[in-house]
Amino acid sequence: MKIKSKILIIAGSDSSGGAGIQADIKTVTALGSYAMTAITAVTVQNTKGVRSVIPIKPKEIEKQILFTCEDIRPSGIKIGMLHSPQVINSVANALKKVKVSKIVLDPVMVAKGGARLISRSAIKTLKNRLIKKAYLITPNIPEAEVLTKTKIRNLKDMVNAANILLKSGVKNVLLKGGHRNAEFTEDILLNKGEIKIFKNKKIKTKNTHGTGCTLSSAIVTFLSCGKPLKKSCELAIKYVNQAIVSNPNFGKGHGPVNHLNSIIINKKFK
Ligand SMILES: Nc1ncnc2c1ncn2[C@@H]1O[C@H](COP(=O)(O)OP(=O)(O)OP(=O)(O)O)[C@@H](O)[C@H]1O
Ligand SMILES: [Mg+2]
Repeated sequence: MKIKSKILIIAGSDSSGGAGIQADIKTVTALGSYAMTAITAVTVQNTKGVRSVIPIKPKEIEKQILFTCEDIRPSGIKIGMLHSPQVINSVANALKKVKVSKIVLDPVMVAKGGARLISRSAIKTLKNRLIKKAYLITPNIPEAEVLTKTKIRNLKDMVNAANILLKSGVKNVLLKGGHRNAEFTEDILLNKGEIKIFKNKKIKTKNTHGTGCTLSSAIVTFLSCGKPLKKSCELAIKYVNQAIVSNPNFGKGHGPVNHLNSIIINKKFK
């Protein structure tokens, strides 16, 4: 198989392999591209929860990005967990030098089990320094609530929050609906030109660890292969959906999804 594109992933490590850098590498690889990494933190976790978070020094994160990219230029960048203002500043500084336009930012704040992964002051820095630089941001409902200081109970509230983000200077928002307690999950893609709602039947399972990481990595991979934004989101949502359906039921808590389902999607979407 010929490698389709090159992706740099800036995110934290998940020792259980279901989310974070591990989910990102698996997704990019399964969808046919080459994954490079800048690790921001090492988490000690399993499917039942996060035990600890060991941060990597901001300067070292910046160096991972610059040294890697000066040798192999990425066609897309995915940004995940950035836990402190210093880390966000380092990443923003490095990205100024790297100059890649296809940047997907997943503003990770809370792990599936409820553990907070980012400090309060980091949220402010994220808003001021990084969110507007990204081509697309992919908050889930709790993250969109924090970023917009609104309460999201239904689809109307989701559209309202996405609009607030857009007005604050964000280019494209995909507000993910996985956290809503409903029969369907609705993800909303919003930009100045249009709104698109992706609706899927909600799969009844506890095994959704890493769905958010997987989704943003899939989107940036499709984007880097030249697919338009709406199509990239549609394909990535289908990939995640099939990954949840075929989850291996590993672990006693929120288990991982099956990243290897891409073969099915490749056949379907050729
Ligand atoms: N039970 C489910 N059935 C179908 N789709 C789901 C389900 N849970 C999540 N999704 C989809 O998975 C994608 C990720 O959404 P979600 O809201 O779970 O992100 P997240 O909270 O950031 O995930 P994570 O906890 O991994 O950070 C979205 O496309 C969402 O619609
Ligand atoms: Mg998430």
